[in-house]
Amino acid sequence: MTKIAVIGTGYVGLTTGTCFAHMGHEVVCADIDEDKIAILSSGKVPFVEDGLDRLVKECLESGKLRFVVGAKNAVADCEVAFLCVPTPQCANGSADLSFIEAATREIAALLPPGAIVVNKSTVPVGSTRVVEATLERPDVTVISNPEFLREGSAVGDFLGPDRIVIGSENQAAASKVSSLYLGISAPIVVTDPASAETIKYAANAFLATKLSFVNAIAAICEGVGADVSDVMRGLGYDNRIGPEFLRPGPGWGGSCLPKDTRAMVRIAKDAGYDFKLLRGVIEINEDQFDRVVDKLEAAVGGSLQGRNVAIWGLTFKAGTDDLRDSPSLTIASGLVGRGAVIRAYDPTVAADWDGGPSEIEIVDDPLVVCNGADVLAVLTEWDEFRSVSPRAVGERMENRAVVDARNCLDRALWQRHEFDYRGIGR
Ligand code: UDX
Repeated sequence: MTKIAVIGTGYVGLTTGTCFAHMGHEVVCADIDEDKIAILSSGKVPFVEDGLDRLVKECLESGKLRFVVGAKNAVADCEVAFLCVPTPQCANGSADLSFIEAATREIAALLPPGAIVVNKSTVPVGSTRVVEATLERPDVTVISNPEFLREGSAVGDFLGPDRIVIGSENQAAASKVSSLYLGISAPIVVTDPASAETIKYAANAFLATKLSFVNAIAAICEGVGADVSDVMRGLGYDNRIGPEFLRPGPGWGGSCLPKDTRAMVRIAKDAGYDFKLLRGVIEINEDQFDRVVDKLEAAVGGSLQGRNVAIWGLTFKAGTDDLRDSPSLTIASGLVGRGAVIRAYDPTVAADWDGGPSEIEIVDDPLVVCNGADVLAVLTEWDEFRSVSPRAVGERMENRAVVDARNCLDRALWQRHEFDYRGIGR
């Protein structure tokens, strides 16, 4: 059992702290947001993350997990402190380290002698050294231990990871951090901090590359009359390629891939390398948003001016309420730019939500949103969309047309109900 402090209670920090508590460690989680700490202390999780609320409750009850306001109130007797604070993007594409630096300064004088600081936030290569320099505590070791958690399945990913990466030149500290994960069966890659930080960016850059490749192949499938689902099935059985991350879509988004790919291009530039491949990957993704807008325009007969578009799904993927860098919002803005009138439904977005483009009207029902629509756009793959009756949808629409940008509806069924069905790559 180790005494652990976790600074930052976003989906990464909260999942990390809660899972360590679940594994028997004694954990204190800190955040600067007082309201959030109050909600968490009452056993509730203020965002959508499968299984996390149950685990938080369990660990609060067992006494293994506590929440406090402010990093400095968490570290007094910790052996290991995890930094899980956000690293937003600067205007030039680089990562903004101000949250990490602020948290580090706050805990510097309070860390017990010989403590270990572990950075889990995604930070530019070399940041472990920046944290070391900010701490000014030669007795404290700073380690990089990047996370690979997907939103929506973060708990499962934490407890059953593909690998654990630890970046440190201090063998004893690396062993101590490895031992926190005892009981989890996964290969542990121990390396130097710069390599650990690079692994995180390389992983997300590779995943983004895979997806842009898939979306590009989908575009070609449309041109040559192939079916992208079968093409990807055929690709996925190749062990060198693998079956995951082969679903075409409206473009990739979220809090990580867009930010990390842009940061990687920037890191490469600073290192004297023009990462043309990754620039192309980002460009293909931006084209993909436009391709979906084009599909919707074609589905309403060539002009979106004054046409009503119903949107199903606003989050960047199903299973999360996160709207950061969501393809849906970019596509909605593109539609508004071409004169369309937008109404949208998402199971996690309330009708009084005012965070999006003001032109989007949020409706709290998947059928009502279709009233009078000229076309339906399916932009997030929420399960519930598969069970909505196309007959009921069709009766409400002005025109039976659907653009299924996630290929998640039953095409034959919708076509039987006289829908002009357009998917991606088929
Ligand atoms: C990602 C990484 O997977 C995770 O390892 C990292 O730590 C954080 O970034 P996340 O942002 O939660 O996780 O989402 P992910 O499930 O990877 O999806 C990213 C985007 O790709 C989403 O917009 C999703 O809809 C899209 N996607 C994913 C596809 O279009 N097709 C796929 O087959 C998979």
